[in-house]
Amino acid sequence: MEKEQKSFIKRCFDLAKLGAGSVSPNPMVGAVLVHDGRIIGEGFHQRYGGAHAEVNAVASVLPIDRALLPYSTLYVSLEPCCIFGKTPPCTNLILQEKIPKVVISCLDLSPEVRGRGVDILRAQGVEVVSGILEAEGQALAATRNIAVTQERPYIVLKMAVTSNGFFAPLDGKQFWITQAISKRLVHRWRMEADAILVGTATALIDDPQLDNRHYFGKSPLRIVLDRDLKLPPHLKVLSDGHPTLVVTEQFSPEGGNSAVQYLQLNFDSSFWPILMAKLWKEYKLGVVLVEGGAKVLEGLIAQNLWDEARVFIGKTNLPGGIPAPTLPSPVQQSIRFGVDRLNVYKNDK
Ligand SMILES: NC(=O)c1ccc[n+]([C@@H]2O[C@H](COP(=O)([O-])OP(=O)(O)OC[C@H]3O[C@@H](n4cnc5c(N)ncnc54)[C@H](OP(=O)(O)O)[C@@H]3O)[C@@H](O)[C@H]2O)c1
Repeated sequence: MEKEQKSFIKRCFDLAKLGAGSVSPNPMVGAVLVHDGRIIGEGFHQRYGGAHAEVNAVASVLPIDRALLPYSTLYVSLEPCCIFGKTPPCTNLILQEKIPKVVISCLDLSPEVRGRGVDILRAQGVEVVSGILEAEGQALAATRNIAVTQERPYIVLKMAVTSNGFFAPLDGKQFWITQAISKRLVHRWRMEADAILVGTATALIDDPQLDNRHYFGKSPLRIVLDRDLKLPPHLKVLSDGHPTLVVTEQFSPEGGNSAVQYLQLNFDSSFWPILMAKLWKEYKLGVVLVEGGAKVLEGLIAQNLWDEARVFIGKTNLPGGIPAPTLPSPVQQSIRFGVDRLNVYKNDK
């Protein structure tokens, strides 16, 4: 029984991940309807504001199988919602369709749900099993759960480090550390994020486009720190017509490029928590990918404002340079990626 529950919940996880990059700030969710060991319906949350996974799973059931719903089990990677948001509550749908059993991986930590979805179903006689592959379910829902519990986006740090531990040369010139295939993976991460953030020196030295051109899907918002508005307007992030948010201490300049917006903030010791809170509350950004440079990454690490770090170790060497920022957690996963190595860290503090 438990083996069967795990395998259907794993299927929910796989379906949920198909929504990566399209559903934030909502969570990725997958659902499977099973009758007598046979999958009769599947669905996932496909886009922000669109139908939830449970609704898509029910809608996918063939007319010939619809009569089986009152004898089926609904598997969902996350607790069904019980509130009227952009769509009606999924608990209503489950009750309307008379689905007698629901198996979930983990609870939705949104303050207005948090176990209430389960309670409503149980109160109406639905059997609910919770906690199947819970840690994996929580990891999948982490972007949403961080946002609703800490009122800030899920923060992913990304960096490349030479095999002898340097982050960049000291001469202010761009130096490429990893191979082309790693760049492609980074573009996939960009598609999955709502925004990419970089520091002033990185914008100036690398003049990056910070878009997704080597993977499918959307490009995120670009966020650039520029305390004194000294970045020259010809930089790609300020001139290519794609949206950029410049975070500055100065007043917004008159005229200029309409794709560039300004956010005025004090650059004091509470800069990072205030910025991150604003990015969640005012800009509804659920996932921010921080692509450097070292000072920006170190600032966020020092304030414990990060959730995940993805560090490429390249084959290249530098005779000296800016030392790579260090992370206060052990490597959780280490993967060979062509000639590079990718180390993944999770912040468990
Ligand atoms: N290996 C990698 O993964 C990677 C990734 C990105 C960049 N890089 C390289 O890293 C180098 C740049 O790194 P960096 O550490 O010198 O610069 P950075 O982190 O890109 O930018 C730091 C600058 O941003 C401004 N800033 C404003 N508010 C800040 C805040 N709260 N925290 C931190 N910075 C703030 C400051 O400039 P002002 O004082 O002028 O305001 C600061 O000096 C470049 O060579 C680039 O090519 C490497």
